[in-house]
Amino acid sequence: MSAPPPVVAPSILAADFSRLAEEARAVEGVADWLHIDVMDNHFVPNLTIGLPVVTSLRAATDLPFDVHLMIDDPRRWAPGYADAGAYNVTFHAEASDNPVSLAKDLRAAGAKAGLAIDRDTPVEPYLELLPHFDTLLIMTIKAGFGGQKFIPAMLDKVAAARRHVDAGHLEVRIEVDGGIADDTIAQAAEAGADAFVAGTAVYSAADPAEAVRHLKALARRP
Ligand code: DX5
Ligand code: ZN
Repeated sequence: MSAPPPVVAPSILAADFSRLAEEARAVEGVADWLHIDVMDNHFVPNLTIGLPVVTSLRAATDLPFDVHLMIDDPRRWAPGYADAGAYNVTFHAEASDNPVSLAKDLRAAGAKAGLAIDRDTPVEPYLELLPHFDTLLIMTIKAGFGGQKFIPAMLDKVAAARRHVDAGHLEVRIEVDGGIADDTIAQAAEAGADAFVAGTAVYSAADPAEAVRHLKALARRP
């Protein structure tokens, strides 16, 4: 079985929030997913958008939504994003006391289930949970803000996850998030990532669609 083609997901955290629908449409046809960072000012210090905005945006674009919940108490909120039509709903391992149960609920609600681990969290304790998940998001920065510098040491976690996924023939995307750009995406792909979030690299570019195209070309697994 050949590896599925890489997925690039522009993060709207770096977009103009007063023009979210237009910013989403600017990458339609070339982006695979639209990455939506939900932050609650508790799990992370930053505060972004919630369910009402995501619901409105859902009606404005055909792009699959990759919702990244950086929130406390994901059990309370995550299923709402699945009900709102998100393609994938990712919550943080650090915020959940029963990740497998929530993953089952998300799948039952029709979404893919994603597990995220932050910069200071090891991946090993979570590898055995992966059969219950569709996506493993490995932060390549400390979660909370866009525009931070990629941390190469995080790629050890990516490589460990890739070995586990391949050995078990699991159908799990390994997603990296934070500082992904022209100069970092190839090393993340080489370590085994096959889904790539890019905020600043896409939305600070003069032509966001062209930036996504370029990143996709660089992300092809060697
Ligand atoms: C930060 C978010 C990221 C952020 C990445 O906690 O999870 O998705 O948008 O932004 P860049 O690509 O600028 O590092
Ligand atoms: Zn994110």
